[in-house]
Amino acid sequence: MLNGSLKVPGDKSITHRALIFASLVRGRVEIENMSTAQDCADTALCMQKLGLEIEHKPEEKGSVTVKSPGLAGLKEPQDLLYVGNSGTTIRLLSGLLSALPISSRLDGDESIRKRPMARVIEPLTTMGARIEARENRFAPISIQGGGLCGRRFDLAVASAQVETCLLLAGLGADGRTTVATPHLVRDHTRRMFGHMGVPYVEEDGAISVERLSEALPSCHIRVPADISSAAFFLVCAVLAEGSDLTLLSVGNNPGRTLVLDALSGMGAEIVRLNERLVDGEPVADIRVRGAGRLSGITLGAADLPAGIDEVPVLALAGSLCEGEMVVEGASELRHKESDRLALLVSNLSRNGADIEEREEGFIIRGRKSVRGGELWQTHGDHRMAMSGAIASLLFDRPVQIDDQDCIAVSYPEFFQDLEKVRG
Ligand code: S3P
Repeated sequence: MLNGSLKVPGDKSITHRALIFASLVRGRVEIENMSTAQDCADTALCMQKLGLEIEHKPEEKGSVTVKSPGLAGLKEPQDLLYVGNSGTTIRLLSGLLSALPISSRLDGDESIRKRPMARVIEPLTTMGARIEARENRFAPISIQGGGLCGRRFDLAVASAQVETCLLLAGLGADGRTTVATPHLVRDHTRRMFGHMGVPYVEEDGAISVERLSEALPSCHIRVPADISSAAFFLVCAVLAEGSDLTLLSVGNNPGRTLVLDALSGMGAEIVRLNERLVDGEPVADIRVRGAGRLSGITLGAADLPAGIDEVPVLALAGSLCEGEMVVEGASELRHKESDRLALLVSNLSRNGADIEEREEGFIIRGRKSVRGGELWQTHGDHRMAMSGAIASLLFDRPVQIDDQDCIAVSYPEFFQDLEKVRG
């Protein structure tokens, strides 16, 4: 049972953008309620190496003042830009750095070195960037930037990271850069562009930018609580009868709310209270009450971008539902911090759930109870580890998570927060 109220830390996606887009400003960017994720700390270090000064405000946890010289004042980094485990950092920085007349080298951990980078390298190269990468498609990546020309991209993958990478490159390119995605993706970039004053045009779902002719003025960005972190508590509370939990000031961006829509569609009682806009981002308090068993659901390619990171924890709801959870068109899950399709299927079936892997998804036939008690492998994937911790509370016996340290990649306070609301 989960009870009471909780404010999870700031949104990771939005924090990465706030730190990186601060380089478009000449002046100060005050960021409030930043994510505490290691991923965002890695982004901050990279931006410092490019010339941003970042001061933490000791009196206000999660608040920083960023002093930025503006794009034209960024400097060539003296050494490697290390992105750790963060795909968002390496992809967004590849776009920014391609537009600047400097050379740089990006690398990350073992998982980053396996993630597909051709999706940013190829389009950036067609804009004129000179990029070298291992086998032309993996980190480490070396970039000699500058001299870019804008063009139109109709992306094959629905990726907000790739969209944002190309828009950042477009802000330093000649002519117009337009990016269209096959399905709607999280639109934090557009919203933050609007809030900060970056000119852009939106037409038929595609977004276009031109060279940023003047640095942006100083601004203030308040970051909502991370719905991807809240998702673990939501799923747990929904399935544990007697729960009554309110998650405060959570990002309620329609490009991120699959977890709410899917659980509601399965019959969960979820209410969004105090819906409001904070610095361009929709925010709400989310109250959820334990409903016990839910019904089944089918999720397809058009649904998934709004909750691609939440599929592992949603699968727990599937494994305990009355009916089937069918996930289709989810091949992107194979390219996250781990192959989340294969890993989810092996963890759940080892622990007694009825799940079948498909090339681009899976089918779970829900059971009244799931045995648990067995190994839960993470392959160093933070979201798989937190899903294991929630599985431990929902299954008959706790699962054995092989690595909990990786949770710090997105949510270092996860276990403390879980203790706060456990009845
Ligand atoms: C992110 C977009 C998603 C998501 C990732 C963060 C972002 O990746 O999985 O955790 O901040 O833009 P893709 O856009 O590659 O699907």
